[in-house]
Amino acid sequence: MPLTPDYLLLKAIRNEPIDRTPIWIMRQAGRYLPEYINLKNKAGGFINLVKNPELACEITLQPLKRFELDSAIVFSDILVVADMMGIKLSFVENKGPVFDKVIRTEKDLDNIEQIHNIEKLDYVFNTIKLLKKELSGKKPLIGFIGSPWTVATYIIEGNSSKTFANVRKMLEGDEKLLHGILDMLTNISISYLNKQIEAGIDVAMIFDTWGSLLNDEQYEKFSLRYINKIKHSISNQDIPLIYYVRETDKKLEALKSLDIDVLGIDSTTEIGVIKKQIGDKFALQGNLDVNILKKDEKDIIIEIKKILTSYGSNSGHVFNLGTGITPDINPDKVKILIDNLADISSKINVK
Ligand code: CP3
Repeated sequence: MPLTPDYLLLKAIRNEPIDRTPIWIMRQAGRYLPEYINLKNKAGGFINLVKNPELACEITLQPLKRFELDSAIVFSDILVVADMMGIKLSFVENKGPVFDKVIRTEKDLDNIEQIHNIEKLDYVFNTIKLLKKELSGKKPLIGFIGSPWTVATYIIEGNSSKTFANVRKMLEGDEKLLHGILDMLTNISISYLNKQIEAGIDVAMIFDTWGSLLNDEQYEKFSLRYINKIKHSISNQDIPLIYYVRETDKKLEALKSLDIDVLGIDSTTEIGVIKKQIGDKFALQGNLDVNILKKDEKDIIIEIKKILTSYGSNSGHVFNLGTGITPDINPDKVKILIDNLADISSKINVK
């Protein structure tokens, strides 16, 4: 028996022949599902779900009970690493994440807990172990981290900023401090990801949502360099790495230096254009515009065909949205997407 089951998701990532295009959806467990809202209200909020392995496991599996998805993704958040730094994270309804401390000076950085006890994130590793049991080799499990850069933007601002004023100030005025923060977050990320791998994840994903704030030179210096360091420090190099950044089309030149397996792309550019420009370097993940899921079945079908045709008939494509699914989407539309994708892609894909 092979060491890992022959998951369709992994075959697509490795460019092996597939008989249909696999799909999973960013934020597939979340507020568009009534059963999620229900459990969240019972638990008293998002963070209580994340910190309770039984509940986090149940939430992770909710979308897989409804839809023929090709992967589960651990129910957690990129910002839980704050626990390792002694920073308290809360989520305020309609406002998003809020930290009780920020890092904006050398002194703030010195005051952060210097011993990073990975055990503080045991709730995530226990969720992964429970999930591996529940999934019993039928579906793969994606684990994830935020990129050091993207996590840093939240820790510098202290919340979901629109202007990133403090981040921009540091970028211009104190590169040394910024690198100090990024070094710390990179070290934390490496032990966090390695522990997720030890606990059983099959694929790792790095969310670099706010890489889009940086110009090419900054992007290389403050984000990509640290991602490559993480990639080379992963204990099991067979675990594929998916990397996601918004405004992918503006980043293609810089991304050529990135050492990852799959590039997650947003919906702003046609997938075929990205494929042509970046060649065979990565498998691609994406990139349906979430707003298409507000339309009728016939429009959804047209868009699925557009993306599949644009990508072409070879392997190396994992279907997804270009961003996370939003609370205003009717779950029935997700089923329409998944069922039609299976049908259409099985006619297009080469075996
Ligand atoms: O994809 C999944 O289903 C796995 C779980 C997951 C969550 N967040 C759960 C979540 C993942 C992979 C993330 C990643 C994440 N978290 C990112 C990167 C991807 C992206 O969306 O750009 C970022 C920037 C965060 C930080 C974060 N978490 C913000 C800014 C917010 C508030 C805004 C929002 O979208 O709600 C969250 C909250 C959050 N993380 C929710 C979920 C399901 C909503 C919680 C709720 O109110 O019920």
